[in-house]
Amino acid sequence: MMIGVFLLLWLAAAIGCTQSGEGTDRVPTVLVFKHGKLSGDGRVLSDLLRDFERQHEGVTVREELLPSDSDRQHQYYAMNLDGGKAPFDLLGIDTIWAQEFAKAGWIAPLDGLLTPAEQEEFFPGPIEAATFNGRLYAVPWYVDAGVLYYRRDLLDRHGLEPPRTWHELAQTAKLILDAERDSRLAGFVWQGKQYEGLMCVTLEVLRSNGTDLWSGDQDRAESGLRFLRETISTHGITPLSTSMADEESTRWMFGEGHALFMRNWPYAWSLLQQEGSPVRGKVGVVSLPAFSGFASAPVLGGWMLAIPNSSTHQEMVGELITFLTSPETQRKVAVELGYNPVRRALYSDESLLEVRPLLKDLHPILLEARPRPVTPYYLLISQAVQPEVSAVVVGRKSPKDALEAIRRRVDQIMGEQRVMAARER
Ligand code: GLC
Repeated sequence: MMIGVFLLLWLAAAIGCTQSGEGTDRVPTVLVFKHGKLSGDGRVLSDLLRDFERQHEGVTVREELLPSDSDRQHQYYAMNLDGGKAPFDLLGIDTIWAQEFAKAGWIAPLDGLLTPAEQEEFFPGPIEAATFNGRLYAVPWYVDAGVLYYRRDLLDRHGLEPPRTWHELAQTAKLILDAERDSRLAGFVWQGKQYEGLMCVTLEVLRSNGTDLWSGDQDRAESGLRFLRETISTHGITPLSTSMADEESTRWMFGEGHALFMRNWPYAWSLLQQEGSPVRGKVGVVSLPAFSGFASAPVLGGWMLAIPNSSTHQEMVGELITFLTSPETQRKVAVELGYNPVRRALYSDESLLEVRPLLKDLHPILLEARPRPVTPYYLLISQAVQPEVSAVVVGRKSPKDALEAIRRRVDQIMGEQRVMAARER
């Protein structure tokens, strides 16, 4: 009886203590980590988070997943960060958002986590994208660049080489489609849905023609847009369904053996090579083609980690970021998930290259990859431009009309922003 009373008293004291926040070492700290669904085995990241918990007693990290589509994630974050009370402590952000989120005051500066010398250990592009007004607001998590996947077995069977120009790609695809006579085989799949992925593809095609979407030579920009449309209409190498496709749907199609060429990010490689994959051992990866006379122009992509200003666990989340971007964790994620490390040294680490030889080929591509405009207004621009490009892809608008509308709209947005910036000063 006495023991029972003591036990009750002790329990009451223990609960009271936890609830009042005394003895903070016993209060569990829950860190909510919000990020887009990664492809591949979700257990890799959860296992890493469990390792972090083991190293930090009393800390629990709760993952909350968003869809992998970049624009949908942006919508969620913009809504939830705006009120200053975000229901999460750590978030995965696309490289193109850091400027906007920093300017809006939604995310905390993180210079304390990485000295300038430590920042040098990362790829320079993502660090530049994460730096706003001279301060670092996010730590790069993994890095991306557009690449061309091809069916090595089919090219070999027809004695053909991977294409170096867009024209060669169309020719090669037509030759093989004609010879194979497989009605389920598409020539070239890419991300044609109206979303950020379409922006990346479009920039890659136009920049590889020596121009750009909202500046640069207009004729070459028009012919770049026309090429995209003609892969569907004239060359007949791209199925109309590509106008609704994102990274994952193209990866599935190529992965099932139903496409000869695919534009995608490097993450697809290890999934295509995994056991049971119908195209395992039959795939090659090369730089994206260019128009003749110009160089390949992959877009720089990738994701970073940031802390909402409203998080009450800034310090512990900082430790979690340091853990997730440490050389050991980066190596593990590269080996097990096929995501590209942000730390440059890993690309010359022989033991890693042995298990992931592709990293060696990707290194120069990642270094030459060009960022999308690094400005707080990028999303505004992108969302104004996407419907115009999409209208070209589905054949509703001519490249000329779309391009004129795009350039008018972007000038207008930039003009409005200049006026607002002048008012703020
Ligand atoms: C990938 C890239 C990201 C890009 C997105 C577009 O996730 O890493 O930077 O914005 O694709 O779909």
